[in-house]
Amino acid sequence: MRLNVITLFPEMVEQALSFGVIGRAIKQGLMTVHTYNPRDYAENKHNTVDDKPFGGGAGMVMMYDPLLRTWQAVQDSGQAGDLYYLSPQGQVLDQSLCNALAQTEALTLLCGRYDGIDQRFVDRHVDAELSIGDYVISGGELAACVVVDAIGRQLKGVLGDEDSAKTDSFMSGQLVAPQYTRSEILGQSGVPAVLLSGNHQAIAQWRAEEAALVTQQKRPDLVGTSGGSNATHVPMRTEED
Ligand SMILES: C[S@@+](CC[C@H](N)C(=O)[O-])C[C@H]1O[C@@H](n2cnc3c(N)ncnc32)[C@H](O)[C@@H]1O
Repeated sequence: MRLNVITLFPEMVEQALSFGVIGRAIKQGLMTVHTYNPRDYAENKHNTVDDKPFGGGAGMVMMYDPLLRTWQAVQDSGQAGDLYYLSPQGQVLDQSLCNALAQTEALTLLCGRYDGIDQRFVDRHVDAELSIGDYVISGGELAACVVVDAIGRQLKGVLGDEDSAKTDSFMSGQLVAPQYTRSEILGQSGVPAVLLSGNHQAIAQWRAEEAALVTQQKRPDLVGTSGGSNATHVPMRTEED
């Protein structure tokens, strides 16, 4: 899968995605991440990419023209896919949405900075807006990395154990059961006896019961939902928009 990221801070994205399973997946070519910096497409003396908002007000706005030229460069690659603007106004990301995005061959993530981007770019070129939650952060880069990571771990071969992602929280509408491992300090104290029994059927049953219990306790809103495994919905702009 190819992920293009339009960002004023490419190093931030590249660095953040260079660790752990995602870093390894990129090194192995299981997914590719291409960054495009609007400053490289500014075409003015000071490489300006932002200006004051019409009507006044605090903050600067990312300008239409450099964004358009950057988007055209991404499209010239032939592997742009749909364009998603990371925005606090977007559909809030969940497992189902991440799974749907992971089904695509390529997509492009646009990171805003300052007070956001010229609305005309959103209206004319953005297919959908994605939010990582109802709060505001300083730029889209961290949000883009969240999206890339959440998508990446769904791709074949990225996790060592093929089933790992399938058994994550949210994949079947539940949280997962608690986990325990070796401790010199605690020994086996506090570890549920069934996990030490070697009885795989009993362990599976305990995990299923615990998953239901913690979901009920921590996220009762998930009870009765089917979760991310039934993903079908990617928010898209329609022609009438
Ligand atoms: C400081 S924010 C601009 C916020 C804007 N003034 C508003 O109140 O809606 C700058 C950029 O950070 C990104 N951003 C901020 N919060 C986000 C969120 N919750 N999800 C995704 N991206 C976010 C967007 O790309 C946005 O253009």
